[in-house]
Amino acid sequence: MSSPTFTLNDGAQIPWIGFGTGTALYTKDSTEAVKTAIQTGLTHLDGAQLYQNEESLGKGIKESGIARQELFVTTKVFKTPEGKSVKDTLVESLKKLGLEYVDLFLIHSPLELVKDGKMKAWWKEMEGIKKEGLAKSIGVSNFMVEHLQLLLQDAAVIPAVNQIELHPYVWNTAVNIYEFCKSKGIVIESYGALSTLFRVPEGPVDHIVAKLAERLSKESGTTISSGQILMKWLFQKGVVVVTTSSKTSRMKEMLAVPSLPDLTPEEIVAIETEGSKLHKRFFGLNIYNE
Ligand SMILES: NC(=O)c1ccc[n+]([C@@H]2O[C@H](COP(=O)([O-])OP(=O)(O)OC[C@H]3O[C@@H](n4cnc5c(N)ncnc54)[C@H](OP(=O)(O)O)[C@@H]3O)[C@@H](O)[C@H]2O)c1
Repeated sequence: MSSPTFTLNDGAQIPWIGFGTGTALYTKDSTEAVKTAIQTGLTHLDGAQLYQNEESLGKGIKESGIARQELFVTTKVFKTPEGKSVKDTLVESLKKLGLEYVDLFLIHSPLELVKDGKMKAWWKEMEGIKKEGLAKSIGVSNFMVEHLQLLLQDAAVIPAVNQIELHPYVWNTAVNIYEFCKSKGIVIESYGALSTLFRVPEGPVDHIVAKLAERLSKESGTTISSGQILMKWLFQKGVVVVTTSSKTSRMKEMLAVPSLPDLTPEEIVAIETEGSKLHKRFFGLNIYNE
């Protein structure tokens, strides 16, 4: 069963759910996790040069036995070593991954680029990479509206995605990025969604999310978890979810999300209202002007 996809602004299709090889797998061998994820049906893999495990991502892809064209593979550039270009880093990544192209190549963070005045030069390189076919789509990560506005001043290609920390506890501050991206046809990818539940014990959204899990469980006759409710919230908002798990059962839960009964508009607002009672960012990159 293949995952539903969203259409990117360059016409490419992106599976709505991505399996990440950062955080829990950061600097670790991801071979087995990736292989299991692909064989379970997760065809969108999210990697990065910063995670220092691209070889194992490539190994997992190879060992899965699934054809390359069935997969959607992302990697990201964080910085360029002395004397190397952005393209040089991608060529290196492709060698590690054992691939001829990635489906999506992202600038991992705007922060150093803004400091060094390199934003526009890097994006020109990204555009060249797309033209050459080394990446089918290009995008950014952790970009606030002001970073996107700067990049767009001279851009020939509008970024296809912006991957940001997005969950109920940052929704209030992220909503302007979400709206801006929507207005430009930039798809938002969320990371950190499930951190909402396990990094804030007894947080303000727990109650509403548990209540909705109960309603949907009754309606569908299957057990639906709180994590699935958070993913459903993002799916219905047109947001790609990038998460991860060491457990096949949770991978199956992710894949089942699109076919769960829909949340009502009131339920979606209720999640956002409860989320706005706490502002909590779980990751290091401060894109919310705190
Ligand atoms: N662009 C960026 O700057 C950036 C930053 C961070 C992450 N990312 C990407 O996003 C991916 C996902 O990262 P994330 O950690 O932020 O994802 P997340 O969705 O917040 O958390 C995933 C983790 O949640 C755990 N989990 C799920 N349900 C749980 C529950 N009910 N109780 C306890 N633990 C539970 C999983 O552990 P189990 O193994 O137990 O299921 C897994 O390790 C990364 O791998 C990376 O690819 C990108």
